[in-house]
Amino acid sequence: MVTGVGVDLSHISTISEVKGFCGNDQIEEALTGCDLVIIPAGIPRKPGMTRDDLFKINAGIVRDLVQSVAKYCPNAILNIISNPVNSTVPIAAEVMKKNDCYDPKKILGVTTLDVMRAKTFVAALRPEDIKDVTMCDVPVVGGHAGTTIIPLLSQVTPKLSKPFEGEELTALVTRIQNAGTEVVDAKAGAGSATLSMALAAENMATSCLRAMSGEKGIVECAYVASEVIPELAFFASKCELGENGVEKVLGCGEMDSYEKVQVSNAVAELKSSIDKGVEFANA
Ligand code: 2OP
Repeated sequence: MVTGVGVDLSHISTISEVKGFCGNDQIEEALTGCDLVIIPAGIPRKPGMTRDDLFKINAGIVRDLVQSVAKYCPNAILNIISNPVNSTVPIAAEVMKKNDCYDPKKILGVTTLDVMRAKTFVAALRPEDIKDVTMCDVPVVGGHAGTTIIPLLSQVTPKLSKPFEGEELTALVTRIQNAGTEVVDAKAGAGSATLSMALAAENMATSCLRAMSGEKGIVECAYVASEVIPELAFFASKCELGENGVEKVLGCGEMDSYEKVQVSNAVAELKSSIDKGVEFANA
């Protein structure tokens, strides 16, 4: 029960007041006055499915929710989690455009879990360099599906004494790209990542709220409207957050040749996912 989730959350001892709302009848009350809206709604994957297989159902859910955002809190910042993120973010942008309230700075596809996974796996392989996983950083660019998830392992901080290369590099990149599927397979039909995803979403939302409150220098990877790759209207990269959402798209930094090839190989799939979202929203 959705209201049950509200009661569950309301017992957490934070300064936030928790209210639960359910269904379209309460959507106006739920959204009016919101500054930040997090959209995780939709169905999850089952083993054998790609994120794109969720498009048929989740695309309509995101379109309708964003339509309500446009109506009741058009200035809110959106954190979109619903898959396929590579298409649902363009859908959200189109819906906001149609309602004359599109601000490219305010729609962020949440790719934080890719960064969390990359940090966890890198720290496990390089304990001599990374004593505390929470202090390490691994930028992840591209998108949020399969080979569009591109960890920039040449940019790990702290700097690694032994960089990843050869088979170790390809195995690590593949594990990061398939990590969501690893969870889907382990859950064997009971859905996809929820607990790690919830923490990733909380990290992203907290970063947005801190930036919205005026804190400077907050940087997160996110899938946003971007000019980093000229052919792609949306791309995940490091972004500096500010009072109004994405203050500055920071891009990919200095990539090595392996990473450049990965980015260039991802362009066709990202473009097709973006086009699919745009066409759906305008159909
Ligand atoms: C994941 O990467 C659910 O897309 C989410 O696990």
